[in-house]
Amino acid sequence: MTQNWIEVGQLNDIPYMGSRVVKTGGTDIAIFKTASGAIFALEDKCPHKGGPLSQGIVHGNSVSCPLHNWNISLENGEALGPDCGCSPVIPTYVAGDKVFLDLPAAAG
Ligand code: FES
Repeated sequence: MTQNWIEVGQLNDIPYMGSRVVKTGGTDIAIFKTASGAIFALEDKCPHKGGPLSQGIVHGNSVSCPLHNWNISLENGEALGPDCGCSPVIPTYVAGDKVFLDLPAAAG
């Protein structure tokens, strides 16, 4: 599959242990920065009942959903522990202070 890297902002615009939301088409994507500065992106929609993961608490490489506290891996979007479900992961790329997402090319 062809990659389609789109610049979505500055690294410093994303708070440590926080997130920033980017809207693409009809989808909100949450870009997370961990305490160590690693960048991940998931669809901003919890696999349980669609809670806004961008408003959750980032800890380690996971985020706790603000609605019912499921823990979602930032690495693969999967619910951790006994819960099950998966949020789509969006590949990220950082070059200097710029953050890129690999987004599907806009339909014709
Ligand atoms: S909607 Fe996220 S844990 Fe329920």
